[in-house]
Amino acid sequence: MEFKNITVSWKEYCNISELEQPDIDLLSAAREVSKAAYAPYSGFMVGAAIRLENGVIVIGANVENAAFPSGICAERNALSTASANYPGIRPVTIAISARTSKGLTPEPVSPCGNCRQVIAEEEFRYGKGIKIILGGSSRVRIIENGGDLLPLQFSRDDLKTIP
Ligand code: THU
Repeated sequence: MEFKNITVSWKEYCNISELEQPDIDLLSAAREVSKAAYAPYSGFMVGAAIRLENGVIVIGANVENAAFPSGICAERNALSTASANYPGIRPVTIAISARTSKGLTPEPVSPCGNCRQVIAEEEFRYGKGIKIILGGSSRVRIIENGGDLLPLQFSRDDLKTIP
């Protein structure tokens, strides 16, 4: 038996103003688009903004549905929009922000497992990590690679294990 271990590291900031200007701009775009969420069931409005390698910012918000699983998260909405409108252009950074009726969440909100899996596939697709910015109003986290949020992830290698 061998004991194995994975460590996750991230940067933590107390204020958005500590970030570099392109990251401030991206997180501001995520905050803004969270207002466009359609979240009548949870009241949890999420915005995602993606900076592509060509500098374009693509945005998305969550869209809920009375049939709950038919809803889609902000991150996957934005990634799908980017994939359809800018095929072959690599996502470099994703900023995520959430708000309720009380305003922006003070703490950063993390992408759900489903979105982490989709982010991981994009990283594989373009052969490079995607920087993740999780922005609360009183704390901001930066994770250098989305894959860090999904250790031991399912990938195409697992498909090859079929006997
Ligand atoms: N949601 C997102 O859009 N992104 C996340 O990272 C977490 C959750 C949405 C899904 C649902 O519409 C609402 O937030 C509550 O879970």
